[in-house]
Amino acid sequence: MKKVLILGANSDVAESLAHLLATKGHELILAGRSIEKLTALKSDLEIRCNATCSTVIFDAENLDSHQDFYDGLTQKPDWVIAAFGILIEQDEMIKSAELRHKSNRVNMVGAISIFDIIANDFEARKTGVMVGISSVAGDRGRASNYTYGSAKAAYSAYLSGLRNRLYKSGVHVVTVKPGFIKTKMTEHLELPTILTASPELVASKIEKAILNKKNIIYVKWFWRYIMLIIKMIPESIFKKLKL
Ligand SMILES: NC(=O)c1ccc[n+]([C@@H]2O[C@H](COP(=O)([O-])OP(=O)(O)OC[C@H]3O[C@@H](n4cnc5c(N)ncnc54)[C@H](OP(=O)(O)O)[C@@H]3O)[C@@H](O)[C@H]2O)c1
Repeated sequence: MKKVLILGANSDVAESLAHLLATKGHELILAGRSIEKLTALKSDLEIRCNATCSTVIFDAENLDSHQDFYDGLTQKPDWVIAAFGILIEQDEMIKSAELRHKSNRVNMVGAISIFDIIANDFEARKTGVMVGISSVAGDRGRASNYTYGSAKAAYSAYLSGLRNRLYKSGVHVVTVKPGFIKTKMTEHLELPTILTASPELVASKIEKAILNKKNIIYVKWFWRYIMLIIKMIPESIFKKLKL
């Protein structure tokens, strides 16, 4: 049984994953911004899944706190999953530097900052699995969400480099590209049902990816091919499309 640190534990995907991993007997360290929400999740996991879990405050934007956060964990995890993120409308971000910076701080800088710290520990211990939830939005920048997409593109590139660095230490890194997921992040959007995954499906794919040592997963298989086609469109045509 593994000790699993879930960063952004109150994301809908993370909550599904926490339930799945708890039913398999793994011990959970639930990290997030709100102690009330973490406590509610912990109680639910204890009652419904007989889980062993603890809670700890974590804010991806508070970079200065990351080292102390990790040092403060009394027992270090075997697996870590970063499931936090924010999606702000591109139209709003165009008008606000503050929002653009927030998107970058959470989705890219914060995600990389905490993984840098954990990677050093896992590398020294020569064990561990690190899972980062990136996005197909990072596969090619589009006018409708390129600020979020570019943060995720940077995160995907980072995870690729980290995987390459840590391979020889026996540490495995998984990049998750979910496509659309029906969560509170997208509840204001009308998503095409066929292209949209449930948080439960994402959770089960993440668990399988860890166990099968997958490197990069697209949750619904056809997203790999959708993005392949999108990436193949010549830039001279791509720039004229309404995407
Ligand atoms: N939903 C989609 O269609 C979709 C598609 C592709 C990728 N993803 C990615 O999948 C992951 C999970 O997303 P989701 O759909 O499950 O989203 P969600 O339910 O909206 O959850 C997002 C979580 O991120 C946390 N968060 C935001 N800012 C944070 C910060 N500064 N520090 C720590 N935690 C912070 C939130 O914490 P609070 O609970 O405190 O608000 C919330 O629990 C994210 O990385 C997202 O970018 C989602």
